[in-house]
Amino acid sequence: MFPTRVTLVDVGPRDGLQNEKQPVATADKVELVGRLQAAGLREIEVTSYVSPKWVPQMADNAAVMAAIARPPGVRHSVLVPNMVGLQAALAGGVATRPDEIVVFGAASQAFSQRNINCSIEESIERFAPVVAAAREAGLKVRSAISCALGCPYQGEVTPDEVEHVVRLMKDIGVQHCGIADTIGVGTPRRVQAVLERALKHFPLAEVSGHFHDTYGQALANIYASLEVGVHVFDASVAGLGGCPYAKGATGNVATEDIVFMLDGMGIETGIDLSKLVEAGGFISARLGRPPVSRAGKALLIK
Ligand code: HMG
Ligand code: MG
Repeated sequence: MFPTRVTLVDVGPRDGLQNEKQPVATADKVELVGRLQAAGLREIEVTSYVSPKWVPQMADNAAVMAAIARPPGVRHSVLVPNMVGLQAALAGGVATRPDEIVVFGAASQAFSQRNINCSIEESIERFAPVVAAAREAGLKVRSAISCALGCPYQGEVTPDEVEHVVRLMKDIGVQHCGIADTIGVGTPRRVQAVLERALKHFPLAEVSGHFHDTYGQALANIYASLEVGVHVFDASVAGLGGCPYAKGATGNVATEDIVFMLDGMGIETGIDLSKLVEAGGFISARLGRPPVSRAGKALLIK
């Protein structure tokens, strides 16, 4: 049976903006988060505590976390690759710390090396103390498994390879498993096969899809995920983004497009589409280009 309610995690401020070459003003990032909250988003991936040499756009992580409003009921997450990142995320004290962290690994060795400069096994060794310390500090820990449907360097990635990393993440105490199609090559049946592997190790509410829309498959893949009961998805307002270590990868599926589809199917998200479209219009104007979101574009010119 289809879920009656879906949780959307807007990763636009992080996944969406991390790839922008021109610096985006901290105030604009903060306003984007505020507008997403006003549109009804209850989960937002705000920034990442990664090396500023690797991803300069996220260098203002602490300033963004310090400036965003923290209304009750909204959960803010950040990417953390190692202990240095976790310490930085916790350094500002209770007012600025995230509710959740995301450790990000990969189902392909080649991508792990390019993205976080270590093998899959080394990444898990690195994450283990981070997960323990984050949970000790009362944070929830999510994982993202990149290249779960294909790798820009290695090509084919099998469900067995994905399940191997899912299991490793589970073993170190990660509480949520995000299946990420970094380069958008997944198609519905394959997505279902990979989600089934994650569901062997994590409960239904703790498995999510993170679908980049490079090949236009993301909405179909979300529909296929709903068919197997998965009801948590990452999405990026205005379809912003890409990954700096996956050349040519486009943004995540646009939040507006998913909300339009789910509204039409009578599936609740708690999100006000018109306010979301305005949020997408705001950040797109700041970046000097139209939103990639199809629904966003259509509704903005209405
Ligand atoms: P490294 O160079 O191997 O790290 O990078 P290191 O431990 O050797 O340290 C080198 C220097 O970096 C040191 O400073 C550290 O202190 C510093 P120095 O002594 O030279 O002055 N450093 C840090 N600084 C700030 N924050 C930190 C940090 N760690 C070390 N956390 C590292 C390893 C993981 C840090 C690096 O590879 C990195 O930052 N990678 C991040 C890459 C990234 O952000 N990629 C995009 C996000 S992932 C993504 O988009 C995929 C996703 O959306 C899912 C999907 O679609 O697939 C999640
Ligand atoms: Mg991504």
